[in-house]
Amino acid sequence: MAAAMPLAVQAAEMQAEVLHWWTSGGESAAVQVFAEKFKENRGAWVDTAIAGGTNARTAGINRIVGGNPPTAMQFNTGKQFDELVSNELLADLDEVAAAQNWRDVLPPALIEAVTREDKFYAIPVNIHGINWLWYNKKVLTEAGIQEPATWPDVVAAGEKLEAAGVVGLAQGGQPWQERTLFNSVLVGHGGTDLYYKIYRDGDQAAVDSPKFREVADLFKKLQGLTDEGSPGRNWNDATAMVITGKAGMQVMGDWAKGEFTAAGLKPDVDYGCTVVGEGGYLMGGDVFVFPVSEDETVKATQVKLAEVMFAPETQIAFNTIKGSVPSRLDVDVSGMDICAQKGAAALKDESRQVPTTDFLISPDLSGAIDDVVTQFWNNAGMTTDEFVQKFVGAMQAAG
Ligand code: GAL
Repeated sequence: MAAAMPLAVQAAEMQAEVLHWWTSGGESAAVQVFAEKFKENRGAWVDTAIAGGTNARTAGINRIVGGNPPTAMQFNTGKQFDELVSNELLADLDEVAAAQNWRDVLPPALIEAVTREDKFYAIPVNIHGINWLWYNKKVLTEAGIQEPATWPDVVAAGEKLEAAGVVGLAQGGQPWQERTLFNSVLVGHGGTDLYYKIYRDGDQAAVDSPKFREVADLFKKLQGLTDEGSPGRNWNDATAMVITGKAGMQVMGDWAKGEFTAAGLKPDVDYGCTVVGEGGYLMGGDVFVFPVSEDETVKATQVKLAEVMFAPETQIAFNTIKGSVPSRLDVDVSGMDICAQKGAAALKDESRQVPTTDFLISPDLSGAIDDVVTQFWNNAGMTTDEFVQKFVGAMQAAG
């Protein structure tokens, strides 16, 4: 394993190049908080923003492997950076983790997701809820629709909206967004047990089940509620459709809240937020990793950056704009909005905390399942049985 990184020394001007994929209005405003806080600590933030998580991760990994690493780069919380750890390309953060008592303040699931062989290799900066339904309150009220409680309710609401001349479901037609929708229906309608059987236990029989087929059928019905502009649409452009009332609903992680906030909209006034179905709260989020370096100034800069990102006041300021909740549990979130309160309440109930697939399966298996889900979403002729067979096939191929 790489040598432990020393604690920060009060270096002069510390310059950190940070690679991430936060390019929407809300995301950019949120990442500015990190930059400002780092600047207040005599750091200079060099922003390398690359649109799209897959693009940014590929570019960052290539730079690290190619020997020209950024000071820090973003990943999702979970298994995405495993190969960088196993190739000893990431700094061990144990010293700064100990100095800041990360083990005392982080939820066990997050500690598990950012440690390898019991050493910290990433700093979790937030917890995003993934399976949120966002809706335009005025549009739904005018169509005589109550807040959907179940996934069949969402389908019925979407059909009513379409009848009223409004796009039922604003959807970005990209694999990760179709995955977000599918897994939201799976955990909300199929249930937490079915979700775990598939993604944690790799139980292929759970896929070839009546309940999974019900989920697949609901997913296909939702496809019928989108508009012809959906293919390729970015998630924040789908959020803008709900903000402007062009569409009634969107299923998306609570980074979407950052767009409502940036547009000046208020939760429970202009828009609603709810977790549909049995209550499982798909927990995701973001981390930063620090490529290993022999340069003492780089190491000191990385430690200072980690300290700044994890500081309670940074955590509140950043997460308030980002739409997530702080990764550390010792921060007072009572001043955050109603949606954050709902998320925080779900996180206090261990039975509701359900890690996203990034925590449970490899990037390769995740990509293979994305391909099957996207095929099923886009190919009207693909039957539910064919979807089940291909889904099981992806699991078998991953071994
Ligand atoms: C997620 C990430 C969020 C959000 C979203 C859309 O993977 O965790 O922070 O930015 O991508 O870009």
